[in-house]
Amino acid sequence: MRFDVVTLFPAMFAAITGQGITRRAYELGLWSLTAWNPRDFTSDAHRTVDDRPYGGGPGMVMMAEPLALAIEALRRDGGGTAVIALAPGGKSLTDATVRQYAERGGSLALVCGRYEGIDQRFLGSCVDEVVSVGDFVMSGGELAAMALIDAVVRQLPGALKDASADEESFATGLLDGPHYTRPEVWRGRAVPQVLLSGHHRDIEAWRRREALKATVSNRPDMLRQARADGRLTARDESDLRELAQMGAAASRSAA
Ligand SMILES: C[S@@+](CC[C@H](N)C(=O)[O-])C[C@H]1O[C@@H](n2cnc3c(N)ncnc32)[C@H](O)[C@@H]1O
Repeated sequence: MRFDVVTLFPAMFAAITGQGITRRAYELGLWSLTAWNPRDFTSDAHRTVDDRPYGGGPGMVMMAEPLALAIEALRRDGGGTAVIALAPGGKSLTDATVRQYAERGGSLALVCGRYEGIDQRFLGSCVDEVVSVGDFVMSGGELAAMALIDAVVRQLPGALKDASADEESFATGLLDGPHYTRPEVWRGRAVPQVLLSGHHRDIEAWRRREALKATVSNRPDMLRQARADGRLTARDESDLRELAQMGAAASRSAA
């Protein structure tokens, strides 16, 4: 899969081409990355990419023309089938969208904003989607673009060596449960006995229950969705009733 990033800080992307799973996948040729610096598409001596906002107010705004020229150049180079701009006000990036991008493959161009953001006329004419990676504001779109690329790359066939992305949080409609590794007892805390039992069915049932527990406590919205999608079994529902009773009993004894 091909990614093109339009960024004032191309060097930041070494974090994903040079480290970990994304690096391995990059070296295997599962994905490629080309950075396009809007400063290379300016025509003044100062290589200006930003200007003051019309209507006044603080900060600077990224100018449309250098960004549009960068998109035209990466398209001439064969990239940018779809163009995504990163912005806190965009549609939330979800597991489902990440999987769609990975399944679609081809090429994605990611436009990283800086300052107060990007001239709306560029967004309105050159961008297919505006995407947010969370309800918070960062200083630039680079980390957001890297989060998107990382999440998509790990879905590409062959990117993960021994783990299956199908068992991770969200894929099942639930959050992932807890994980443990050696030693068996760490600072007085033991690994749950069932994980040492060797009974695969019991272990699977425990993991499912722990996933339900994590989801009900951290993301009740996801649980409601999983129920509406028919992804909960009768056993899940009975585990959930039991968890609710245990929770109610615990708050009664705390009161
Ligand atoms: C300081 S932010 C601009 C914030 C903007 N004025 C606002 O209030 O929505 C600068 C750039 O960082 C990027 N950015 C910041 N937070 C982001 C987020 N949560 N998701 C995606 N991009 C983000 C965007 O590219 C944005 O143009």
